Amino acid sequence: MGAGPAGLLLAHLLRLEGIESVVLETRSREEIEATLRAGVLEQGTVNILNETGVGERMMREGFVHQGIYLRFAGATHRIDFKELTGGRSIMVYAQHEVIKDLVKARLDAGAPLEFGVTDVTLQDLETAAPKIRYRDAAGALRELACDYVAGCDGFHGVSRPAIPSRKRTEYSRVYPFGWFGLLVEAPPATDELIYAHHERGFALVSTRSPKIQRLYLQCDPDDEVKQWPDARIWEELHARLANREGWTLTEGRILQKGVVAMRSFVVEPMQYGRLFLAGDAAHIVPPTGAKGLNLAVADVRVLAQALTAHYREQRGDLLEQYSATALRRVWRAEHFSWWMTSMLHRFHDDTPFHHRLQLAELDFVTSSRAKAITLAENYVGLPLD
Ligand code: FAD
Ligand code: DHB
Repeated sequence: MGAGPAGLLLAHLLRLEGIESVVLETRSREEIEATLRAGVLEQGTVNILNETGVGERMMREGFVHQGIYLRFAGATHRIDFKELTGGRSIMVYAQHEVIKDLVKARLDAGAPLEFGVTDVTLQDLETAAPKIRYRDAAGALRELACDYVAGCDGFHGVSRPAIPSRKRTEYSRVYPFGWFGLLVEAPPATDELIYAHHERGFALVSTRSPKIQRLYLQCDPDDEVKQWPDARIWEELHARLANREGWTLTEGRILQKGVVAMRSFVVEPMQYGRLFLAGDAAHIVPPTGAKGLNLAVADVRVLAQALTAHYREQRGDLLEQYSATALRRVWRAEHFSWWMTSMLHRFHDDTPFHHRLQLAELDFVTSSRAKAITLAENYVGLPLD
């Protein structure tokens, strides 16, 4: 269920093991290939895409970054991933490009992937013969008999609510701010991402290509795009990214604007009968640590291994342990994302005391090697095994 990174990569990993699956997606191919989301891939995510033959374009068009900058109190400090983690790095390559590569691989292999399905319901999940009922793109009612159902249909999908409420526990925190995301036609303003703490709010400078840059600004979660005319956007970005080093942001034509709400969320367990949840269907992180897409990849790697052990060796233990195995990494990423978010954003109830605490934390992260290693290890991604 779902042709996001979780569903498409799971289907890809299973196909390579000779395990058949059908991917059902409510949106069109054009829509999923054009939706702007994450941009940072952990080393482990890059490795999986390369090892399974879908990393060729990423290696050509993506950008390897060996660190990030933290900017606060007008000064910029580099966190050197390569040096602090023993050679690990990240790849800046947009999520919708990963989607395009996975969709192409699936269609080239002639494997089933249905777009534009509607009225999806899950049946008999607690039995050995679960079913998915849906309407295909032509409007015909269909029923799919499954061994297992992978709920990879995102936070607003139907999989998680299909688990009876008494069988699941949900943990959640909604943040009193969102991110205003921009796509700008301009040359890169920086060689590595800049995460900026400022009393007017957080700002982030990322990139997409030599001609297109990705920028984010902390905003009110209820803000609408029309409240952010170009002049206001540039004024805020210049103010929040101000520094004493002579660096300036290069302005350009704004191609796209959008608001992202921010929450932390986990459901436990990530399984009910023959339904296994993966990715945003099971958990959400605020985007500050760039973990959402990478966690989805980590989940489906564990799930693909468990399903392979089941079909190849008749071993059920890995499937039984799926939720516990996945949740251990999920909670680590939840903590990291919450910590990065708390350290870098302005909160409504901010007091001068809280502001000073944030600056003390940033000062520590950029002066203590132990603390910098903690950030670097989490950002590049903990080993998958
Ligand atoms: P999704 O990518 O959400 O894919 C789920 C798919 O299931 C969708 O294509 C959906 O159409 C489909 N679907 C829904 N319901 C059904 C159904 N009933 N049947 C079949 N299919 C269904 N993370 C970052 O790290 N950095 C970011 O900057 C960032 N920005 C984001 C911006 C937005 C607006 C959002 C929503 C998320 C953002 N994320 C970001 C998070 C990251 O993109 C997600 O963690 C990642 O997409 C998770 O992948 P997924 O496959 O689990 O879910
Ligand atoms: C991007 C998104 C993030 O959430 C992040 O932490 C860094 C970069 C991006 O879209 O480029």
